[in-house]
Amino acid sequence: MEHTHERRDFMKLAIAAGTPLALGASPARVLGRGDPAQADDASFFDTVRTRRSVRRFQPTPVPDAHLTRILDAARLAPTSGNQQPWKFLVVRDRAAIDRMREACIERALDARRARGITVTPEMTDAVKESMRGYFSAPVYVVVLTDNESRYPTYNHWDGPLAAGYLMLAARALGYGTVFITDSIPDDVTRTVLDIPARYTRVCITPIGVPAAWPDTPTKKDLDDFIVHERF
Ligand SMILES: Cc1cc2nc3c(=O)[nH]c(=O)nc-3n(C[C@H](O)[C@H](O)[C@H](O)COP(=O)(O)O)c2cc1C
Repeated sequence: MEHTHERRDFMKLAIAAGTPLALGASPARVLGRGDPAQADDASFFDTVRTRRSVRRFQPTPVPDAHLTRILDAARLAPTSGNQQPWKFLVVRDRAAIDRMREACIERALDARRARGITVTPEMTDAVKESMRGYFSAPVYVVVLTDNESRYPTYNHWDGPLAAGYLMLAARALGYGTVFITDSIPDDVTRTVLDIPARYTRVCITPIGVPAAWPDTPTKKDLDDFIVHERF
């Protein structure tokens, strides 16, 4: 029990400081088994509550061992028939990251032109600044599912579950992430990173120490979601 309290305090400090937990520094923690009254999951709920979509990062490296823990959590997500249809494409190569950024800037400006908007220098600067933020992390993970998996029609459920686990595990270690779809178009990642057609992209997420933790965006009340017994 003592360990559990230590762990909780440690997590609170780390979350308050916004810093990644030192590797291996967390004491072993025993989850209650079978008896909810015995479970002590304060750190888990803190992690869930404080996860935020982060779009600008410090250059602080993410150690391989941290990344391994994060991906190891992701691959423990539930899947249909236990098919585990994922690939986690890890990108640290700065040249590739910069190529994706350049392509995204072009795309974002082209999209505006296609909508009949006159692209001004200010608009160009704003897009560049936004993309500098998205691409400021030291590492990116593209979450993919295999179209040739055992139950490919279930991949669209299995894929986001792994991404969710990944984001929570990263938060537990003090890192920010963001589930990116449109901001980094699918074909940009596909072309720059040579992703075969066999794999469907679920999302791409940066992983890094946030430049700052964003405020929590407005969230609906719990009561807005719950329907009791019968619709
Ligand atoms: C399916 C999905 C697609 C998303 N696509 C993007 C995206 O392309 N770019 C982006 O910056 N954020 C994207 N997000 C992140 C959401 O904007 C973010 O989760 C939401 O605003 C709530 O903020 P929070 O994650 O901090 O709670 C996406 C999230 C989901 C679940």
